[in-house]
Amino acid sequence: MWSQNPLTERLNLKWPIFQSPMGEITTPSLAAAVSEAGGLGGLGMWGFSGEDAERRVAGFRQQSGGSLNVNYPLWDHPGDITNTGHAMRKAVQKLYDQEGLGPVPEPGGSAGGVTDEHLEMLQKMKPELISFHFGLPDENTIAAIKEIGIFIISSATTVAEARALEQRGVDAIIAQGTEAGGHRGTFTDTPISMQPGLFSLLPQVVDAVRVPVVAAGGISDGRTIAAAIMMGASAVQIGTVFLRCEEANVSDSHKDGLDLGTEANTVVTPLLSGRPARFIKNRLIDDLTESGAQPLAFPAQMGLIHGLGDVGKTELTPLYAGQSVAMARSLPAGELVVKLAAETTACFQAYR
Ligand SMILES: Cc1cc2nc3c(=O)[nH]c(=O)nc-3n(C[C@H](O)[C@H](O)[C@H](O)COP(=O)(O)O)c2cc1C
Repeated sequence: MWSQNPLTERLNLKWPIFQSPMGEITTPSLAAAVSEAGGLGGLGMWGFSGEDAERRVAGFRQQSGGSLNVNYPLWDHPGDITNTGHAMRKAVQKLYDQEGLGPVPEPGGSAGGVTDEHLEMLQKMKPELISFHFGLPDENTIAAIKEIGIFIISSATTVAEARALEQRGVDAIIAQGTEAGGHRGTFTDTPISMQPGLFSLLPQVVDAVRVPVVAAGGISDGRTIAAAIMMGASAVQIGTVFLRCEEANVSDSHKDGLDLGTEANTVVTPLLSGRPARFIKNRLIDDLTESGAQPLAFPAQMGLIHGLGDVGKTELTPLYAGQSVAMARSLPAGELVVKLAAETTACFQAYR
């Protein structure tokens, strides 16, 4: 059966379908609906206090007895950035002025990771899996998480990154092709134009490592899941295609923007957050590109443009999405998982 393997057994999944943890877009209801349907629900944890993170996991547990993935993007504190990025601040101020928004906020630095508070939460709530983006935390944190018994995964955008993650002790690796929506998980700064698409990356990562590999980037229906399984993936991770689910916390202007998305109008740029991420191209990206200004450090750049998204205009909202955005379906998340699984089964049956 295509759907069962050591990874699905270890994580107690009916279907090898992971819903991408996508920051605060991912609600406990979304993750619970996916896990109840037999997939793996994911919850973004960054930006939440330990207490709020615990509330999120508890919300999931109230709605599902299934497995849960909690996610932490990792980045270093950039130091004092209050007096930096003047050209960018000027470019963003121009957009603020057009919308009558007042002065752009002062930029502030921050670090991302698993704080002591969050580690306590993990000890108490024991999610089945923890995923990282932009590499892995320090040895002590990894050891503490292993001690709790949580399964650890992280994203690789090249074979070298996959090897590095395996060497540092991950239990599985997400191979993230360039089709993917949201941030590139790269932690070696390989230039974006040199990063491979999933069709090239996946079999090469599968050949390079011994741990299970999860395919991410452009997975959108049964055909693409079957193809990833045939290329050696033990599971797939899907983000963009869940953005239209009613349980996802997607703003109206972002939702309207998804209607405009095609295979040929997304772009990877660091201009909206400070790190390369894929978005549907809109006026916000065009204007900031035209300014020639460099972004502030991640995630301070996000803080700078946040007010523009709140205006509620699609042309000024960061429209995070991958290249398969036009294939997203407006369905409850549980129904989507069941449909994806049925389509994949039909694909494999067609070749019996
Ligand atoms: C809106 C959005 C937000 C994302 N945020 C995160 C995140 O916070 N952490 C993370 O590990 N991956 C994040 N990702 C990337 C996913 O983990 C995954 O690589 C991607 O969704 C797979 O490609 P797809 O979007 O084409 O399905 C995000 C993706 C999207 C679309």
